[in-house]
Amino acid sequence: MPAPEVTLSEPPRTSPASYRAIGVKPLNPTVGAEITGVDLAQPIPQNVAAELRRAFEEHMVIFLRGPAIDHEAHARLAKVFGKPHVAPSTVQWRVEGHPEVTKIHADGDSKYVAGEDWHSDMSCDPEPPMGSVLYLHTLPPLGGDTVFASMYAAYEALSDTMKATIADLRAVHSSAKSFGDKVARDLELPTSSHPMVRTHPVSGRKALFVNRGYTTHIEGLPAQESEAILRFLYEHVANPNFQCRFTWSSHAIAIWDNRCLQHMAIWDYFPQTRSGFRIQIQGDRPV
Ligand code: SIN
Repeated sequence: MPAPEVTLSEPPRTSPASYRAIGVKPLNPTVGAEITGVDLAQPIPQNVAAELRRAFEEHMVIFLRGPAIDHEAHARLAKVFGKPHVAPSTVQWRVEGHPEVTKIHADGDSKYVAGEDWHSDMSCDPEPPMGSVLYLHTLPPLGGDTVFASMYAAYEALSDTMKATIADLRAVHSSAKSFGDKVARDLELPTSSHPMVRTHPVSGRKALFVNRGYTTHIEGLPAQESEAILRFLYEHVANPNFQCRFTWSSHAIAIWDNRCLQHMAIWDYFPQTRSGFRIQIQGDRPV
């Protein structure tokens, strides 16, 4: 049998057996793990919080399946990872009385769904959210999965020549590309320039940081060259070898790291309903 086209290095992970306070079951060798043993109805003990943060760092996206939670329990869980990020572009989806909570909802009247193309949340912001905590209470009978792709793996699988080409380049990320036709015309839509390769502030690993949802062009290159490189990178990041796919159940939660992942919500369930709430977590300026 021929060797796979892309061979990935083993990510630095501790053994699932080394977790004492929670259960951790990796979904594949590259990205994603299901977590068990967390009681979200109660304040989260320090040792559980510390292991949740370790699992998040090692697996980039972690999934919990649980009973229904309210906005307070959702906020308590998000706080384990940091302070809430309230993005200017999401004002129309905010939940009254809980500005940090945005509604994620699609049904038979929807013309679009949040995140239906590959993206890293709010990469248009100068300091994009480092993570997102998505809780879904209502699911279609079939479909509505979310796919996550490791941008460490995508970066590491590039040739040395492509790595050197993009090493010092920056790309522009625009909220208008993602939200321009969906929000009030007078809303201020942020645009930011970020390095195309960012170094994760916790792991120190390099991750590719351009995405089809928000990135408009590479700074300093003629339009045709910028388009050609971005088109190649967008195809490259969608390689299934870098991915995991999560099939939701009612009241499941996904917590992902936007600094080293892209994700895409699959809208294959129209006209069924899929509904829940998301809290984003403050991040820092990509370097
Ligand atoms: C998002 O992009 O934050 C939404 C993802 C999803 O609904 O699965």
